[in-house]
Amino acid sequence: MTTIEQEQAALDQLYRDFGAHNLIPLWTARDDLMPPAPQPAAIPYVWRWSDLYPLAQRSGELVPVGRGGERRAIALANPGLPGLPYATPTLWAAIQYLGPRETAPSHHHTQTAFRFVIDGEGVWTNVEGDPVAMRRGDLLLTPSWAFHEHQNVTGNPMAWIDGLDIPLVHQLDAGFFEFGPDRLSVTETPDRSRNERLWGHPALRPIGVPDQPSSPLMAYRWAHTDAALTAQLELADEGRPGPLGPGRAGVRFTNPTTGGDALVTIRTEFHRLRAGVRTEASRMVGSAVWQVFEGEATVTLGEERFAVKKGDLFAVPSWCAFSLEAETHVDLFRFSDEPVYDALGFTRLARQATARQEAR
Ligand SMILES: [Fe+2]
Repeated sequence: MTTIEQEQAALDQLYRDFGAHNLIPLWTARDDLMPPAPQPAAIPYVWRWSDLYPLAQRSGELVPVGRGGERRAIALANPGLPGLPYATPTLWAAIQYLGPRETAPSHHHTQTAFRFVIDGEGVWTNVEGDPVAMRRGDLLLTPSWAFHEHQNVTGNPMAWIDGLDIPLVHQLDAGFFEFGPDRLSVTETPDRSRNERLWGHPALRPIGVPDQPSSPLMAYRWAHTDAALTAQLELADEGRPGPLGPGRAGVRFTNPTTGGDALVTIRTEFHRLRAGVRTEASRMVGSAVWQVFEGEATVTLGEERFAVKKGDLFAVPSWCAFSLEAETHVDLFRFSDEPVYDALGFTRLARQATARQEAR
């Protein structure tokens, strides 16, 4: 055996011994472990409301809601994450469907959740025993570890979108789950929940309540969101465009005790664009899911363009170049994992010029 052959044999033996001792040397894995920029497995993807709703409806006819399965929720599964019910590596998004007079049993979990309603009413979500009406355009919160159950008091079905941090909590091995009582804790259906009566007054905070990590306000009503967006565009018409520029308005749902995000791990926002308005292309670390609330738009995700309309949802993976063009007046709900990236110091945003440069 030559010297070179002896060295090769020794090297081969070294790698076999690494394997036998469950060791992997950095020099064979550095490219994958530390790429020059994020290389998400999740892909840009659009789920059509015209597909989602009829499938949820069929589930309503065939699949009961009850203890164990807990919810008739159908998750958006990103094709880049095969076999996983995740819209992005950190975010769960699902359509939930509750039939006439149906209830969904009480439970709680460390995963943070919200509901967003694009159509319908008649369901109350009881959060810690406080009944919260769910109606079109409303954002309803279920913070980590809050007991919750749903009841439909009407003769009509209702569907909405659930957003949760299930994939993040799974990666962090931080998930806890417990069943609540089998029977509804409350059956009242007040127009305003107790938390709204206490916290739902603009910029007025009850005295004597300490800061809380999640918003103590569980319902952000469409009337308020719509009024805020309308006012931003009116100000722009008067020559005072906001930071997003002419024809664009946006609001973030916040925690009234801190001014930060309404939820600890999920950012929630509403965006409005006038017909013909086009946003600057940008890319950011972290992922997002959008749902068209009203109108039609073209969304550019990386190299692909998608026409989207009311109810359609789309996933924007980390560092994916993103821009929107409003075909009509368009309203969009957006949620993302940005609070997590902010907290970890990973926030990074590149505007059009940089995005183009880096796309070459
Ligand atoms: Fe839940």
